[in-house]
Amino acid sequence: MNMPIEVRPITTAETLPLRMAILRPHRPIETAHFPGDDDPTTTHIGAYTAGNIVAIASLFSAALPERCNYEGDSSRLESPWQLRGMAVSNEFQQRGYGKAMLDACVAQARSQGGTLIWCNARNSALGFYKKAGFVMCSEEFFIPDVGPHHVMLRFLIDVY
Ligand SMILES: CC(C)(COP(=O)(O)OP(=O)(O)OC[C@H]1O[C@@H](n2cnc3c(N)ncnc32)[C@H](O)[C@@H]1OP(=O)(O)O)[C@@H](O)C(=O)NCCC(=O)NCCS
Repeated sequence: MNMPIEVRPITTAETLPLRMAILRPHRPIETAHFPGDDDPTTTHIGAYTAGNIVAIASLFSAALPERCNYEGDSSRLESPWQLRGMAVSNEFQQRGYGKAMLDACVAQARSQGGTLIWCNARNSALGFYKKAGFVMCSEEFFIPDVGPHHVMLRFLIDVY
């Protein structure tokens, strides 16, 4: 029987080993620090198994980037949250940890009055975000030393 995935807030320092290993391999430790990591509005979330953190994600209060084209109802843009640094340890990928982290981040954003959640999605992860209800809103762009990305977003409120 699959055990439920235990998800809880963690510190910036606790995110760094997995950020380095999965998202910034062979790069200097400074590249794993994100601006805003220690802001009071920022939340870092970890998923545990056997007492070890095996998945991480971070949620920042951050405006949609200009390269994201959205021309709909502006009330949906009032409280944007950026999902960043989503990473699942290699041996735990494709086992529901990413979805559990994303669900926790969506719940956290909603609890703060969030109207949307967005991310710079690696092309290799576009399918994961699409399955979770995100849509692409930019052209492809390149992050140096990381690769091709698209901005993706998911609205958290409906407008009638
Ligand atoms: C991308 C990542 C966060 C997804 O997390 P995960 O735990 O592997 O994914 P889950 O098991 O929760 O998958 C949820 C669903 O998305 C699908 N999925 C997962 N990764 C996918 C991918 N890269 N492309 C397409 N679909 C994907 C799964 O098959 C599953 O589908 P289902 O509901 O039909 O079974 C994780 O694989 C990872 O850390 N990858 C390396 C780092 C990375 O790319 N991070 C994202 C940076 S933007």
